[in-house]
Amino acid sequence: MQAIALASGDGLAGPDAPRARKEATVVLSFVLNSMIEYDPKLRVRKPIMKVPAFVSEIVCYEPGQQTATHHHPVQDELWVVLEGHGEIWVGEERLPVEPTSMIYIPAGVRHGLAASPDSRLVLLFIKSPGIPEAATFGVGNAAAAPVGNTPPVSGQKLRVEVTDVQAEARDVVHVELRAPGGGELPPFEPGAHLAIDLPNGMIRHYSLANDWRERDRYVVGVARAAQGRGGSLFVHQALRRGMTLTINPPRNGFALDTSASSYLFLAGGIGITPILAMIRWCAANHRPWRLAYAVRSAQRAAFLETLAGLGGGSVHLHADDREARVFDPGPWLAGTPPGEQVYCCGPAPMMAAVKAAASHRDARTVHFEYFAAPADEQQARQASAKAFTIELRRSARSLDVPADKTILDILEKNGIPVVTSCREGTCRTCETVVCEGEVEHRDYCLTPQEQENGHTMMVCVSRAKGERLVLDL
Ligand code: FES
Repeated sequence: MQAIALASGDGLAGPDAPRARKEATVVLSFVLNSMIEYDPKLRVRKPIMKVPAFVSEIVCYEPGQQTATHHHPVQDELWVVLEGHGEIWVGEERLPVEPTSMIYIPAGVRHGLAASPDSRLVLLFIKSPGIPEAATFGVGNAAAAPVGNTPPVSGQKLRVEVTDVQAEARDVVHVELRAPGGGELPPFEPGAHLAIDLPNGMIRHYSLANDWRERDRYVVGVARAAQGRGGSLFVHQALRRGMTLTINPPRNGFALDTSASSYLFLAGGIGITPILAMIRWCAANHRPWRLAYAVRSAQRAAFLETLAGLGGGSVHLHADDREARVFDPGPWLAGTPPGEQVYCCGPAPMMAAVKAAASHRDARTVHFEYFAAPADEQQARQASAKAFTIELRRSARSLDVPADKTILDILEKNGIPVVTSCREGTCRTCETVVCEGEVEHRDYCLTPQEQENGHTMMVCVSRAKGERLVLDL
Protein backbone atom coordinates (compact mmCIF):
# COMPACT_ATOMS: atom_id res chain seq x y z
CA MET A 1 0.00 0.00 0.00
CA GLN A 2 1.45 3.32 -0.98
CA ALA A 3 0.07 6.80 -0.48
CA ILE A 4 1.51 9.84 -2.19
CA ALA A 5 0.75 13.29 -0.86
CA LEU A 6 1.47 16.78 -2.09
CA ALA A 7 2.48 18.64 1.03
CA SER A 8 5.12 20.59 2.82
CA GLY A 9 7.74 18.42 4.50
CA ASP A 10 6.79 20.09 7.80
CA GLY A 11 3.48 18.24 7.76
CA LEU A 12 5.12 14.88 8.20
CA ALA A 13 4.50 13.42 11.66
CA GLY A 14 5.02 10.37 13.79
CA PRO A 15 7.72 7.83 14.51
CA ASP A 16 7.62 6.52 10.95
CA ALA A 17 8.46 9.83 9.40
CA PRO A 18 11.96 8.70 8.39
CA ARG A 19 10.50 5.85 6.37
CA ALA A 20 8.69 8.24 4.04
CA ARG A 21 10.66 9.03 0.91
CA LYS A 22 10.81 12.67 -0.04
CA GLU A 23 10.59 12.46 -3.81
CA ALA A 24 10.53 16.20 -4.48
CA THR A 25 10.27 19.30 -2.36
CA VAL A 26 6.48 19.00 -2.06
CA VAL A 27 5.76 15.33 -2.77
CA LEU A 28 5.82 12.79 0.06
CA SER A 29 5.40 9.09 -0.41
CA PHE A 30 4.43 6.66 2.35
CA VAL A 31 4.65 2.88 2.26
CA LEU A 32 1.71 2.12 4.54
CA ASN A 33 2.49 -1.60 4.85
CA SER A 34 5.64 -0.70 6.74
CA MET A 35 3.58 1.20 9.31
CA ILE A 36 1.30 -1.70 10.26
CA GLU A 37 1.94 -2.88 13.80
CA TYR A 38 -0.27 -4.60 16.38
CA ASP A 39 -0.33 -4.64 20.15
CA PRO A 40 -2.43 -7.27 21.96
CA LYS A 41 -3.13 -4.78 24.76
CA LEU A 42 -4.42 -1.80 22.74
CA ARG A 43 -4.97 -0.70 19.17
CA VAL A 44 -1.92 0.96 17.61
CA ARG A 45 -2.34 4.50 16.23
CA LYS A 46 0.37 6.06 14.11
CA PRO A 47 0.14 9.60 12.83
CA ILE A 48 1.02 10.06 9.17
CA MET A 49 0.45 13.74 8.46
CA LYS A 50 -0.86 16.75 10.35
CA VAL A 51 -1.44 19.80 8.21
CA PRO A 52 -4.07 22.57 8.49
CA ALA A 53 -6.31 20.89 5.93
CA PHE A 54 -6.39 17.42 7.50
CA VAL A 55 -4.92 14.89 9.91
CA SER A 56 -4.25 11.34 8.81
CA GLU A 57 -3.40 8.28 10.86
CA ILE A 58 -3.09 4.58 10.37
CA VAL A 59 -4.77 2.52 13.10
CA CYS A 60 -4.29 -1.23 13.60
CA TYR A 61 -6.61 -3.39 15.68
CA GLU A 62 -6.09 -6.91 16.95
CA PRO A 63 -9.24 -9.12 16.71
CA GLY A 64 -11.95 -7.70 18.99
CA GLN A 65 -10.15 -4.42 19.76
CA GLN A 66 -12.26 -1.33 19.38
CA THR A 67 -12.60 2.42 19.42
CA ALA A 68 -15.33 3.44 21.86
CA THR A 69 -18.31 5.54 20.82
CA HIS A 70 -17.32 9.17 20.45
CA HIS A 71 -17.81 12.13 18.17
CA HIS A 72 -15.80 15.07 16.85
CA PRO A 73 -17.62 18.36 17.29
CA VAL A 74 -15.99 20.10 14.32
CA GLN A 75 -14.14 17.45 12.33
CA ASP A 76 -15.52 15.47 9.43
CA GLU A 77 -13.87 12.09 9.20
CA LEU A 78 -13.19 9.57 6.45
CA TRP A 79 -12.29 5.97 7.26
CA VAL A 80 -10.77 3.70 4.62
CA VAL A 81 -10.41 0.01 5.48
CA LEU A 82 -7.06 -1.24 4.20
CA GLU A 83 -7.14 -4.77 5.63
CA GLY A 84 -9.43 -7.02 7.64
CA HIS A 85 -13.04 -7.08 8.75
CA GLY A 86 -15.04 -5.43 11.49
CA GLU A 87 -18.10 -3.45 12.34
CA ILE A 88 -18.78 0.26 12.70
CA TRP A 89 -21.65 1.94 14.46
CA VAL A 90 -22.87 5.37 13.50
CA GLY A 91 -25.67 6.54 15.81
CA GLU A 92 -27.89 3.45 16.15
CA GLU A 93 -26.79 1.99 12.78
CA ARG A 94 -24.32 -0.91 12.65
CA LEU A 95 -22.48 -1.69 9.43
CA PRO A 96 -20.03 -4.47 8.56
CA VAL A 97 -16.78 -3.27 6.97
CA GLU A 98 -14.27 -5.08 4.77
CA PRO A 99 -11.15 -4.18 2.75
CA THR A 100 -11.81 -1.12 0.53
CA SER A 101 -14.85 0.00 2.60
CA MET A 102 -14.89 3.77 2.88
CA ILE A 103 -17.03 5.47 5.54
CA TYR A 104 -17.77 9.14 5.90
CA ILE A 105 -18.66 10.42 9.40
CA PRO A 106 -19.89 14.03 9.51
CA ALA A 107 -18.85 16.24 12.43
CA GLY A 108 -21.02 15.80 15.52
CA VAL A 109 -22.23 12.26 14.70
CA ARG A 110 -21.53 9.62 17.38
CA HIS A 111 -19.63 6.61 16.08
CA GLY A 112 -17.25 3.82 16.97
CA LEU A 113 -15.86 0.61 15.55
CA ALA A 114 -14.54 -2.83 16.44
CA ALA A 115 -12.44 -5.42 14.65
CA SER A 116 -14.24 -8.75 14.17
CA PRO A 117 -13.43 -11.36 16.85
CA ASP A 118 -11.57 -13.39 14.20
CA SER A 119 -9.93 -10.67 12.12
CA ARG A 120 -7.33 -7.97 12.45
CA LEU A 121 -8.34 -4.61 11.03
CA VAL A 122 -6.25 -1.80 9.54
CA LEU A 123 -7.76 1.61 8.84
CA LEU A 124 -6.59 4.83 7.32
CA PHE A 125 -8.24 7.82 9.03
CA ILE A 126 -8.43 11.21 7.39
CA LYS A 127 -9.94 14.02 9.44
CA SER A 128 -10.62 17.55 8.35
CA PRO A 129 -9.94 20.27 9.38
CA GLY A 130 -6.58 19.16 10.68
CA ILE A 131 -4.50 21.00 13.19
CA PRO A 132 -7.04 23.24 14.97
CA GLU A 133 -9.23 20.43 16.28
CA ALA A 134 -6.34 18.03 16.58
CA ALA A 135 -5.04 20.39 19.22
CA THR A 136 -8.46 20.64 20.86
CA PHE A 137 -9.47 17.02 21.02
CA GLY A 138 -6.22 15.27 21.63
CA VAL A 139 -5.43 13.70 18.26
CA GLY A 140 -1.68 13.26 18.17
CA ASN A 141 0.49 16.05 19.51
CA ALA A 142 -0.39 18.90 17.20
CA ALA A 143 0.38 22.12 18.96
CA ALA A 144 -1.01 24.70 16.61
CA ALA A 145 -2.92 27.65 18.01
CA PRO A 146 -6.60 28.01 17.10
CA VAL A 147 -7.05 29.89 13.86
CA GLY A 148 -9.67 32.23 12.46
CA ASN A 149 -12.81 32.34 14.54
CA THR A 150 -12.27 29.04 16.33
CA PRO A 151 -12.96 29.66 20.05
CA PRO A 152 -9.94 29.54 22.34
CA VAL A 153 -9.41 26.11 23.82
CA SER A 154 -7.60 24.39 26.62
CA GLY A 155 -7.16 20.62 26.39
CA GLN A 156 -10.57 19.25 25.43
CA LYS A 157 -12.40 22.31 26.70
CA LEU A 158 -13.68 25.51 25.17
CA ARG A 159 -13.72 28.92 26.77
CA VAL A 160 -16.95 30.84 26.36
CA GLU A 161 -18.27 34.13 27.61
CA VAL A 162 -21.59 34.61 29.37
CA THR A 163 -23.34 37.13 27.10
CA ASP A 164 -26.82 37.07 28.64
CA VAL A 165 -28.58 35.84 31.78
CA GLN A 166 -32.32 36.46 31.85
CA ALA A 167 -35.33 35.29 33.80
CA GLU A 168 -37.59 33.00 31.77
CA ALA A 169 -40.09 32.14 34.49
CA ARG A 170 -40.16 31.93 38.26
CA ASP A 171 -36.88 30.30 39.36
CA VAL A 172 -35.81 29.66 35.75
CA VAL A 173 -33.14 31.61 33.85
CA HIS A 174 -31.73 31.23 30.41
CA VAL A 175 -27.99 31.65 29.97
CA GLU A 176 -26.46 32.59 26.63
CA LEU A 177 -22.84 31.66 25.93
CA ARG A 178 -20.67 32.81 23.00
CA ALA A 179 -17.04 32.44 21.95
CA PRO A 180 -15.06 35.36 23.44
CA GLY A 181 -14.86 37.97 20.69
CA GLY A 182 -17.43 36.13 18.56
CA GLY A 183 -16.93 33.32 16.07
CA GLU A 184 -18.21 29.80 15.51
CA LEU A 185 -18.79 27.21 18.18
CA PRO A 186 -18.85 23.43 17.65
CA PRO A 187 -22.21 22.32 16.22
CA PHE A 188 -24.89 20.52 18.21
CA GLU A 189 -28.05 18.55 17.58
CA PRO A 190 -31.47 18.92 19.25
CA GLY A 191 -31.39 17.12 22.62
CA ALA A 192 -27.68 17.85 23.23
CA HIS A 193 -26.29 19.22 26.47
CA LEU A 194 -23.19 21.08 27.66
CA ALA A 195 -20.97 20.20 30.61
CA ILE A 196 -20.08 23.53 32.20
CA ASP A 197 -17.24 24.01 34.69
CA LEU A 198 -18.72 26.48 37.12
CA PRO A 199 -16.37 28.88 38.91
CA ASN A 200 -17.42 27.29 42.24
CA GLY A 201 -15.59 24.10 41.18
CA MET A 202 -18.65 22.08 40.12
CA ILE A 203 -19.22 20.52 36.71
CA ARG A 204 -22.88 20.79 35.77
CA HIS A 205 -24.75 19.56 32.70
CA TYR A 206 -27.39 21.72 31.04
CA SER A 207 -29.46 20.98 27.93
CA LEU A 208 -29.28 23.32 24.96
CA ALA A 209 -32.52 25.12 24.14
CA ASN A 210 -31.60 27.17 21.09
CA ASP A 211 -31.85 26.38 17.38
CA TRP A 212 -29.34 23.73 16.29
CA ARG A 213 -28.51 25.81 13.20
CA GLU A 214 -27.11 28.65 15.31
CA ARG A 215 -23.35 28.33 15.33
CA ASP A 216 -22.51 31.50 17.22
CA ARG A 217 -24.14 30.80 20.59
CA TYR A 218 -25.37 28.23 23.06
CA VAL A 219 -28.46 28.85 25.21
CA VAL A 220 -29.17 26.70 28.26
CA GLY A 221 -32.07 26.84 30.72
CA VAL A 222 -31.33 26.49 34.45
CA ALA A 223 -33.95 25.97 37.16
CA ARG A 224 -33.12 26.97 40.72
CA ALA A 225 -33.01 23.83 42.85
CA ALA A 226 -33.01 24.98 46.46
CA GLN A 227 -32.24 21.43 47.68
CA GLY A 228 -29.69 20.71 44.94
CA ARG A 229 -25.93 20.39 45.26
CA GLY A 230 -25.25 24.07 44.58
CA GLY A 231 -24.79 24.29 40.81
CA SER A 232 -28.11 25.92 39.98
CA LEU A 233 -27.90 28.20 43.03
CA PHE A 234 -24.55 29.48 41.79
CA VAL A 235 -26.00 30.13 38.32
CA HIS A 236 -28.97 32.02 39.77
CA GLN A 237 -27.07 34.00 42.38
CA ALA A 238 -23.61 34.61 40.96
CA LEU A 239 -23.43 34.04 37.20
CA ARG A 240 -23.28 37.37 35.40
CA ARG A 241 -22.86 38.70 31.87
CA GLY A 242 -19.17 39.09 30.98
CA MET A 243 -17.94 36.12 33.04
CA THR A 244 -15.81 33.53 31.24
CA LEU A 245 -16.58 29.85 31.66
CA THR A 246 -14.97 26.62 30.52
CA ILE A 247 -17.21 24.07 28.88
CA ASN A 248 -16.99 20.70 27.19
CA PRO A 249 -18.28 20.68 23.62
CA PRO A 250 -21.94 19.57 23.26
CA ARG A 251 -22.78 15.89 23.64
CA ASN A 252 -26.06 14.23 22.83
CA GLY A 253 -27.50 11.32 24.77
CA PHE A 254 -31.09 12.25 23.85
CA ALA A 255 -30.92 12.35 20.07
CA LEU A 256 -34.05 12.99 18.02
CA ASP A 257 -35.04 10.26 15.57
CA THR A 258 -35.50 12.42 12.51
CA SER A 259 -37.34 9.72 10.56
CA ALA A 260 -40.55 9.72 12.65
CA SER A 261 -43.87 10.70 11.10
CA SER A 262 -44.89 12.70 14.18
CA TYR A 263 -43.68 13.50 17.70
CA LEU A 264 -45.19 13.52 21.18
CA PHE A 265 -43.16 15.55 23.69
CA LEU A 266 -43.74 15.26 27.44
CA ALA A 267 -41.84 17.84 29.48
CA GLY A 268 -41.82 18.44 33.21
CA GLY A 269 -40.37 21.66 34.66
CA ILE A 270 -36.90 22.45 33.33
CA GLY A 271 -37.16 19.30 31.19
CA ILE A 272 -38.62 21.66 28.62
CA THR A 273 -35.09 22.76 27.64
CA PRO A 274 -34.02 19.86 25.36
CA ILE A 275 -37.63 19.44 24.23
CA LEU A 276 -37.70 23.06 23.03
CA ALA A 277 -34.65 22.41 20.84
CA MET A 278 -36.42 19.34 19.40
CA ILE A 279 -39.61 21.27 18.71
CA ARG A 280 -37.56 23.92 16.89
CA TRP A 281 -36.31 21.12 14.63
CA CYS A 282 -39.87 19.81 14.04
CA ALA A 283 -41.15 23.29 13.18
CA ALA A 284 -38.29 23.91 10.76
CA ASN A 285 -38.79 20.52 9.10
CA HIS A 286 -42.62 20.63 8.96
CA ARG A 287 -43.09 17.56 11.19
CA PRO A 288 -46.27 17.41 13.28
CA TRP A 289 -45.70 17.60 17.03
CA ARG A 290 -47.65 17.73 20.31
CA LEU A 291 -46.33 18.94 23.63
CA ALA A 292 -47.72 18.28 27.10
CA TYR A 293 -45.80 20.56 29.45
CA ALA A 294 -46.29 19.94 33.17
CA VAL A 295 -45.28 22.48 35.83
CA ARG A 296 -46.09 22.97 39.49
CA SER A 297 -47.55 26.40 38.77
CA ALA A 298 -48.07 28.41 35.58
CA GLN A 299 -45.53 31.03 36.74
CA ARG A 300 -42.84 28.36 36.49
CA ALA A 301 -43.53 27.58 32.83
CA ALA A 302 -40.48 28.73 30.82
CA PHE A 303 -40.15 29.49 27.10
CA LEU A 304 -43.95 29.70 26.59
CA GLU A 305 -43.75 32.65 24.21
CA THR A 306 -41.09 30.92 22.12
CA LEU A 307 -43.18 27.74 21.98
CA ALA A 308 -46.23 29.69 20.86
CA GLY A 309 -44.25 31.00 17.89
CA LEU A 310 -43.22 27.54 16.64
CA GLY A 311 -45.59 26.20 14.01
CA GLY A 312 -46.85 22.76 13.15
CA GLY A 313 -47.86 21.63 16.62
CA SER A 314 -49.82 22.21 19.79
CA VAL A 315 -48.90 23.01 23.40
CA HIS A 316 -50.91 21.77 26.37
CA LEU A 317 -49.83 23.38 29.64
CA HIS A 318 -50.64 21.45 32.80
CA ALA A 319 -50.19 23.42 36.05
CA ASP A 320 -50.55 21.22 39.15
CA ASP A 321 -51.87 24.06 41.33
CA ARG A 322 -54.48 25.13 38.80
CA GLU A 323 -55.77 21.62 38.18
CA ALA A 324 -55.28 20.42 41.76
CA ARG A 325 -53.58 17.20 40.61
CA VAL A 326 -50.33 16.06 39.08
CA PHE A 327 -50.01 15.44 35.36
CA ASP A 328 -51.35 12.10 34.13
CA PRO A 329 -49.55 10.96 30.96
CA GLY A 330 -51.91 7.99 30.46
CA PRO A 331 -54.36 9.61 28.00
CA TRP A 332 -51.49 11.06 25.98
CA LEU A 333 -49.87 7.68 25.48
CA ALA A 334 -53.04 5.64 25.05
CA GLY A 335 -53.72 6.72 21.51
CA THR A 336 -50.31 7.48 20.03
CA PRO A 337 -50.34 6.65 16.33
CA PRO A 338 -47.83 4.15 14.89
CA GLY A 339 -44.68 5.89 13.66
CA GLU A 340 -44.88 8.52 16.38
CA GLN A 341 -41.81 8.92 18.60
CA VAL A 342 -42.21 9.95 22.24
CA TYR A 343 -39.62 12.08 24.07
CA CYS A 344 -39.85 12.73 27.80
CA CYS A 345 -37.72 14.85 30.09
CA GLY A 346 -38.76 15.85 33.59
CA PRO A 347 -38.49 15.00 37.28
CA ALA A 348 -38.17 11.35 38.33
CA PRO A 349 -41.85 10.81 39.38
CA MET A 350 -43.06 12.08 36.01
CA MET A 351 -40.58 9.88 34.15
CA ALA A 352 -41.76 6.86 36.15
CA ALA A 353 -45.41 7.67 35.33
CA VAL A 354 -44.59 8.01 31.62
CA LYS A 355 -42.61 4.76 31.66
CA ALA A 356 -45.58 2.93 33.20
CA ALA A 357 -48.09 4.50 30.80
CA ALA A 358 -45.90 3.66 27.80
CA SER A 359 -45.20 0.05 28.81
CA HIS A 360 -47.41 -1.24 25.96
CA ARG A 361 -45.32 0.55 23.37
CA ASP A 362 -42.19 -0.59 21.55
CA ALA A 363 -39.38 0.67 23.84
CA ARG A 364 -37.52 2.02 20.80
CA THR A 365 -40.24 4.64 20.33
CA VAL A 366 -40.08 6.12 23.84
CA HIS A 367 -37.02 8.13 24.88
CA PHE A 368 -36.05 9.58 28.26
CA GLU A 369 -33.55 12.18 29.42
CA TYR A 370 -32.95 12.05 33.17
CA PHE A 371 -31.51 14.92 35.16
CA ALA A 372 -31.67 12.99 38.43
CA ALA A 373 -31.62 9.27 39.12
CA PRO A 374 -34.86 7.86 40.60
CA ALA A 375 -33.99 7.33 44.29
CA ASP A 376 -36.27 4.32 44.85
CA GLU A 377 -34.87 2.46 41.85
CA GLN A 378 -31.29 3.11 43.00
CA GLN A 379 -32.07 1.82 46.50
CA ALA A 380 -33.72 -1.36 45.19
CA ARG A 381 -30.73 -2.05 42.94
CA GLN A 382 -28.25 -1.45 45.73
CA ALA A 383 -29.94 -4.14 47.82
CA SER A 384 -29.19 -6.76 45.15
CA ALA A 385 -25.58 -5.69 44.45
CA LYS A 386 -22.83 -8.36 44.47
CA ALA A 387 -19.04 -8.17 44.83
CA PHE A 388 -16.78 -8.58 41.79
CA THR A 389 -13.25 -7.83 40.54
CA ILE A 390 -12.05 -5.20 38.09
CA GLU A 391 -8.88 -5.53 36.07
CA LEU A 392 -7.39 -2.30 34.80
CA ARG A 393 -5.71 -3.09 31.52
CA ARG A 394 -3.51 -0.03 31.14
CA SER A 395 -2.49 0.17 34.79
CA ALA A 396 -2.08 -3.63 35.03
CA ARG A 397 -3.91 -3.69 38.38
CA SER A 398 -6.65 -5.87 39.82
CA LEU A 399 -9.06 -4.47 42.42
CA ASP A 400 -11.99 -5.93 44.36
CA VAL A 401 -15.31 -4.08 44.36
CA PRO A 402 -17.37 -5.07 47.44
CA ALA A 403 -21.17 -5.23 47.21
CA ASP A 404 -21.60 -1.97 49.10
CA LYS A 405 -19.14 0.06 46.98
CA THR A 406 -19.18 1.33 43.40
CA ILE A 407 -16.36 0.95 40.91
CA LEU A 408 -15.85 4.69 41.23
CA ASP A 409 -15.44 4.39 45.03
CA ILE A 410 -12.70 1.80 44.53
CA LEU A 411 -10.93 3.70 41.75
CA GLU A 412 -10.83 6.87 43.84
CA LYS A 413 -9.70 4.99 46.93
CA ASN A 414 -6.78 3.60 44.94
CA GLY A 415 -5.79 6.95 43.46
CA ILE A 416 -6.96 6.23 39.92
CA PRO A 417 -8.35 9.49 38.52
CA VAL A 418 -11.81 9.49 36.92
CA VAL A 419 -13.60 12.69 35.93
CA THR A 420 -17.12 12.76 37.38
CA SER A 421 -20.06 15.10 37.69
CA CYS A 422 -23.45 13.67 38.68
CA ARG A 423 -22.13 10.45 40.28
CA GLU A 424 -25.56 8.87 39.76
CA GLY A 425 -25.46 7.69 36.14
CA THR A 426 -27.21 10.55 34.38
CA CYS A 427 -24.48 12.72 32.84
CA ARG A 428 -22.07 10.36 31.03
CA THR A 429 -18.96 12.11 32.38
CA CYS A 430 -17.41 8.94 33.84
CA GLU A 431 -17.99 6.79 30.72
CA THR A 432 -15.26 4.12 30.59
CA VAL A 433 -14.37 1.61 27.88
CA VAL A 434 -15.03 -2.03 28.77
CA CYS A 435 -12.49 -4.45 27.32
CA GLU A 436 -13.95 -7.71 28.66
CA GLY A 437 -16.87 -8.90 30.77
CA GLU A 438 -20.60 -8.30 30.89
CA VAL A 439 -21.92 -5.09 32.40
CA GLU A 440 -24.99 -4.67 34.56
CA HIS A 441 -25.90 -1.20 33.36
CA ARG A 442 -27.48 1.00 36.02
CA ASP A 443 -27.14 4.34 34.28
CA TYR A 444 -29.78 6.63 32.84
CA CYS A 445 -27.78 8.03 29.93
CA LEU A 446 -26.69 5.27 27.53
CA THR A 447 -29.23 4.29 24.88
CA PRO A 448 -30.69 0.74 25.07
CA GLN A 449 -28.57 -0.11 22.03
CA GLU A 450 -25.40 1.22 23.68
CA GLN A 451 -26.19 -0.74 26.83
CA GLU A 452 -26.69 -3.88 24.79
CA ASN A 453 -23.39 -3.30 22.95
CA GLY A 454 -21.61 -3.10 26.31
CA HIS A 455 -18.61 -1.26 24.87
CA THR A 456 -18.66 1.35 27.65
CA MET A 457 -20.10 1.79 31.12
CA MET A 458 -20.70 4.47 33.76
CA VAL A 459 -18.39 3.48 36.59
CA CYS A 460 -20.24 5.64 39.10
CA VAL A 461 -23.23 3.27 39.17
CA SER A 462 -22.91 0.27 36.83
CA ARG A 463 -21.48 -3.06 37.94
CA ALA A 464 -20.34 -6.43 36.61
CA LYS A 465 -22.91 -9.09 35.76
CA GLY A 466 -20.37 -11.79 36.47
CA GLU A 467 -17.31 -11.98 38.66
CA ARG A 468 -14.91 -9.89 36.59
CA LEU A 469 -14.69 -6.86 34.32
CA VAL A 470 -11.66 -5.64 32.38
CA LEU A 471 -11.59 -1.85 31.92
CA ASP A 472 -9.48 0.36 29.69
CA LEU A 473 -7.95 2.27 32.58
S1 FES B 1 -20.48 10.83 36.86
FE1 FES B 1 -22.31 11.20 35.74
S2 FES B 1 -22.67 9.27 34.77
FE2 FES B 1 -21.02 8.88 36.14
